[in-house]
Amino acid sequence: MIYGRINFVKKLIVANWKLNPQTIREAVTLAQASDQQNTVICPPFCFLPTVKKYIKRASLGAQDCFWEEGGAYTGKVSPVMLKNLGVEYVIVGHSERRKWLGETDEMINRKIKAAAKIGLKIILCVGESPAVHQRGIRAVKKFIGSQLLKDLTGTRGKLLAKNLVIAYEPIWAISTTYSKKSRDNSDTPQDAAGMINFIKKFLHSTLYILHSKVLYGGSVTSKNAENFLKYKEIDGALVGGASLKLKEIKKIIQFSSRYNA
Ligand code: PGA
Repeated sequence: MIYGRINFVKKLIVANWKLNPQTIREAVTLAQASDQQNTVICPPFCFLPTVKKYIKRASLGAQDCFWEEGGAYTGKVSPVMLKNLGVEYVIVGHSERRKWLGETDEMINRKIKAAAKIGLKIILCVGESPAVHQRGIRAVKKFIGSQLLKDLTGTRGKLLAKNLVIAYEPIWAISTTYSKKSRDNSDTPQDAAGMINFIKKFLHSTLYILHSKVLYGGSVTSKNAENFLKYKEIDGALVGGASLKLKEIKKIIQFSSRYNA
């Protein structure tokens, strides 16, 4: 299959800082370096208000939320709290949460519904494990289709397509999850574009969702970003490790802005 390279949809870069950095000072420096249009900065909860103060062009995102608005849920943060802080996006279903915290598709579905109700934009992460990957492309498509179905069930009419972003993040490609050493695990851009094409068609035909952005995530760096972003199917990138390095994230945002002119 030949994938076109002309793109009419603005590319989105999501900087997922995960459990980093350790100080507010570093968070401010990082936020200022990433403060560009069509960029979503997702710091840990404790830095959200400070980062909000320092950004002018980027949007603010959270890395997770709970499904209740309030109540006796120690340690949780609700969508309404995020909204009231000026948060626009929330990442839901990241594979690290699925893996380390036992998040199920049912929990993710509840979070999506709660966040959608309050008007947050959702960045839903889906992706197959190394074991599924090894079983081949049919198994991968079946797995991703089933994740999308379970995570998005019952959201029709509650969630506008423009408020939904999907991040396709094959777990084996996420540098810090699968291999701590290598930063060269990323999928090939062509395979990633093929899967993203599949996701778009699946969203359309099965869930009647049209025009949601679908990003690629998994070891995106300044070295490979352009190879991914040049595919018209790939609407942007979710960047983990490289979003913590000032030069790296600046370059990645710069590449993506070429497509947004
Ligand atoms: P990575 O992380 O860019 O460090 O591979 C991506 C992610 O987990 O969102």
